[in-house]
Amino acid sequence: MNQIEEFLKLVRGRRSIRKFRQDPLPKEVVRRIIEAASWAPSASNRQDWEFRVVTSASVKEKMQDIVRSRWESVLDKSRSEVIKEELQKYVSMFDWFSHAPALIIISAKRPESFLYHILGDTAGDVAGTEISAAMAAQNLMLAAHASGIGSCCVTGPLAAQEELKELLEIGKGRKIVCLIALGYPAEQPEAPLRKSGERVSKYIE
Ligand SMILES: Cc1cc2nc3c(=O)[nH]c(=O)nc-3n(C[C@H](O)[C@H](O)[C@H](O)COP(=O)(O)O)c2cc1C
Repeated sequence: MNQIEEFLKLVRGRRSIRKFRQDPLPKEVVRRIIEAASWAPSASNRQDWEFRVVTSASVKEKMQDIVRSRWESVLDKSRSEVIKEELQKYVSMFDWFSHAPALIIISAKRPESFLYHILGDTAGDVAGTEISAAMAAQNLMLAAHASGIGSCCVTGPLAAQEELKELLEIGKGRKIVCLIALGYPAEQPEAPLRKSGERVSKYIE
């Protein structure tokens, strides 16, 4: 198999895993996965990402409680039953994350305030710290997959962004970009369909 075929096999074979065996992940394997993340490209090579690795059962439970109560208050405020039902379905999409043996919380540095003065709303786009962190997240998930470890990127919990930052001691100058749930897979989901490259591309020649 040549390199691109091997690469496509790896990329296509990665699935979002939401059910895990409870075996802990060896520290060395987690270290290597984070090393892969840190080889992602980043804006001006600033590498403004940080990774909090949470394996403590009590901290994971606290995180889940914080997220549940945040979403309960969102649901309480919803006046429409239809919207409430839809939101409830959405919440069930991430009400499992504390069962993962490890959670990696990826945060990005917020752009310096002078950039907002100069560029206004586009400061974040230009600074590129969040997209850089997202690239690190993808490297991390592919490295996990290549190591036989399942992962799932989760952003639903970020409705409780500030509360999670406080619990995890992430400074005000940073923003959590996503949580990555990690562990040995206890399920083998089918690959969800992909839109074809043709459908989502437009060539301007
Ligand atoms: C930015 C981002 C946020 C996501 N948030 C959630 C989430 O909150 N809960 C969840 O169960 N899956 C979440 N996912 C996983 C997606 O549902 C999944 O990637 C998609 O269905 C495609 O499946 P695959 O990853 O197996 O190819 C998220 C994925 C990404 C990239």
